[in-house]
Amino acid sequence: MGIFVTFEGMECCGKSTQLHLLARWLRERGHDAIETREPGGTDIGESIRELLRSGNVSGTFSSRAEILLFEASRAQHMEEKILPAIAAGKIVLCDRFHDSTTVYQGVARAVDADAVSFLNGFASHGRVPDMTILLDIGVRESFRRMDARGAIRDRIESEDENFFQKVRDGYRMLAEDVRFFTVDGMSSIAEIHGKIRDEFARRFF
Ligand code: TMP
Repeated sequence: MGIFVTFEGMECCGKSTQLHLLARWLRERGHDAIETREPGGTDIGESIRELLRSGNVSGTFSSRAEILLFEASRAQHMEEKILPAIAAGKIVLCDRFHDSTTVYQGVARAVDADAVSFLNGFASHGRVPDMTILLDIGVRESFRRMDARGAIRDRIESEDENFFQKVRDGYRMLAEDVRFFTVDGMSSIAEIHGKIRDEFARRFF
C-alpha cells in the first residue's frame, strides 16, 4: 500500500513549491512519487477546475453548485488516479484535498457541516490522507503575495479579507488533529522543506 499526503493552506502559501520539493527528494531516494492537485488531476477534473476558477461565467455560483463541482472533480480524481496509485504502492502528493472543501465551502461559505462531511466522504471513498501538511500564513501575507505575483485574481482569490480570515481560522481548527503537520509559511523555502522532509521520514520511514 502506498502513502497519501495532502498539502493545504491559504492562497500563495507556498504549498505547490513544497509539494514539488518533497516529490523530488522522494524520487532521489528511489520512491515512486506522483504529484497531483485539486480541483483537477484528471482531464475531466481540469475542465471542472477551469469552470470553478473562472470569473467569466455569467451568473454567480450557488454555494451548493460550487461544492458539488469540487466534489465531482474529487470523485473522478480518486477513481481514476489516486486510489489506483495508492494500491500500486506509490506515494501520492496532492495539492489540496477535502480539507479545502471543509474550510472554503464549509467554514467560509457556511455550507451545512453535515452535508460537507457527507460529500467529502462520498467523493473520496472515505479515504483520508495519511498526513496533511499545512503551510500557515496570515491573511495579510496571503494578500501581499497575491499582489506581488501580479496575475489577476481568480474567482475565489477575489473574495474579501473576512472570507479568508474564516479560511485561516478553519485550517487552524482542523490542524489540531494529529494527521496534520503545520509549518510556519513565513520561514524560508529551504527551511520549510527541511522540516517537511524530516517529519515525513519520521512518520513513514
Ligand atoms: P489552487 O489549487 O491554485 O490553490 O486553487 C484552487 C482554489 O480552489 C483555491 O482558491 C481554493 C479553492 N478550493 C475550494 O474552495 N474548495 C476545494 O475543495 C478545493 C480543492 C479548492
